[in-house]
Amino acid sequence: THGRDSPSIVIFSITLLFLVATVRTFTFDVDAGLQLGKWENTTAISLNLRSGRLIIPTVSFTEINVNRSALREFDGLLLRKVFPKIFSSSLVQHELVGNYSQLFRIPGSEPDLEPYMLLAHIDVVPADEADGWDAPPFSAQELNGFIYGRGTIDNKQSVMGILQASEYLLERGYTPRRSFYIGLGHDEEVNGLYGAANIVKLLKSQGVKLQYVLDEGLAVLDGIINGLDGPAALIGISEKGQATVKLSVSSAPGHSSMLPRESSIGILASAVNRLEENLMPRLFGYGPERSTFEHLAHKFGLPLRFITSNLWFFSPLLSRVLERINNTNAFVRTTTAVTMFNSGVKINIIPSYAEVFVNFRIHSAQTLQEVLELVKSDERVKVELVNGFDPLPISSYDEQAFGFQIIKKMVQSMFPQLTVAPGKTSDAFLLNTDTCESLFKLINCFNTNVDVCSVFFIINIRI
Ligand SMILES: *[C@@H]1O[C@H](CO)[C@@H](O)[C@H](O)[C@H]1NC(C)=O
Ligand SMILES: *[C@@H]1O[C@H](CO)[C@@H](O)[C@H](O)[C@H]1NC(C)=O
Ligand SMILES: *[C@@H]1O[C@H](CO)[C@@H](O)[C@H](O)[C@H]1NC(C)=O
Ligand SMILES: *[C@@H]1O[C@H](CO)[C@@H](O)[C@H](O)[C@H]1NC(C)=O
Repeated sequence: THGRDSPSIVIFSITLLFLVATVRTFTFDVDAGLQLGKWENTTAISLNLRSGRLIIPTVSFTEINVNRSALREFDGLLLRKVFPKIFSSSLVQHELVGNYSQLFRIPGSEPDLEPYMLLAHIDVVPADEADGWDAPPFSAQELNGFIYGRGTIDNKQSVMGILQASEYLLERGYTPRRSFYIGLGHDEEVNGLYGAANIVKLLKSQGVKLQYVLDEGLAVLDGIINGLDGPAALIGISEKGQATVKLSVSSAPGHSSMLPRESSIGILASAVNRLEENLMPRLFGYGPERSTFEHLAHKFGLPLRFITSNLWFFSPLLSRVLERINNTNAFVRTTTAVTMFNSGVKINIIPSYAEVFVNFRIHSAQTLQEVLELVKSDERVKVELVNGFDPLPISSYDEQAFGFQIIKKMVQSMFPQLTVAPGKTSDAFLLNTDTCESLFKLINCFNTNVDVCSVFFIINIRI
């Protein structure tokens, strides 16, 4: 009888699992019951930007070479003229930090509530019309309904948006309940050593503890994730870590007529080959990427909806699918990129030395140390860490997470067609968690037309 029963038990179990998964597919929606806020929809905002020069070339070239005269103009000729209230209101405390970064504190009526901070940056990366811009990059020229200019996205749109909203509310005598800060850095594109770093130092010295920080961040994804119905907005809740590692081999030099059994180039090439063949371990499901898919689940069509609603079962399968797609492999693991290989000076000399640089972007579920241990391979290969840092902590995004929920509700109230999900990014950021509980990185641009609004573009930036 045992032999007869087991097949039917197996079939019964599979059917039951399938039923559970199916029910979950049609009921799983992390947004169920979300109450949206009421928003004043005003068109009464007018900005007299045409009178001044909209685009002042606040370019950061290197950490120590920023366009100081442009930064002074941006402060004096633009911001203070266009937003007089925020600079003169007796409610607002304002100061310049590192000479050109702006820090505002708007005190709330309930001092017990932990303040938050809105961040943006004033500086931009260099731009050269010869790179193929349709309009000069600092002209603010209008073409086909778009204003062209370096910084229109990344990140002057945030600078202007934050200040304009504050100016509007101050004009109407509004006082917030919760205090907040506005931090506008002037050298973000070159690591923020004088702007963000000094703002952090200042806040720390004043014992300020922030509830959350909202910074520029990811993109609205539309048509990027296959099978997703409608655009999705990802709120960055963490950042991958990074490591740059140098591998090198030293051996006795020799003439090419007296061949050693293995050259330093050969030994190093094998080490590189092993690194590329043995990818870092699959970690899908152990970091915030799992929640990204769960938040999006109800917007997928079948069969993806079935899979993403049931990651308790399909995680291993999905991770194998994602790693095969170039764009999504980075969700699954620490990525390995071999970026520089140097060796040799002459065609008939076997070089005694060869070196290679490898750049890793570290998955949230791994540490820098764990990555370094996996890099060690051949004892003839010397492994040195050039620089690196662990993945950032993951900001909480559950139902109790005030910052995440308020940002999510805000986005969904203003843009009901968007699905909001947590996500992660991979660029460095200076404000650390000593000063803030959570760091969120919001969309750079809400235009869902990816052709126009792409954080990946370097020319023809427009809004
Ligand atoms: C706001 O009002 C404008 C003009 O009245 C309208 O076109 C727009 O759809 C409204 N936006 C929202 C989010 O309700
Ligand atoms: C710096 O900004 C000024 C405007 O204040 C501009 O005239 C000048 O060309 C800029 N310099 C560089 C090197 O971009
Ligand atoms: C600010 O300006 C002063 C005077 O020009 C200068 O001595 C100082 O080094 C500047 N500080 C920064 C952070 O640029
Ligand atoms: C992934 O990258 C490889 C190598 O660069 C390329 O040949 C392939 O077409 C890419 N696949 C997709 C789906 O983009």
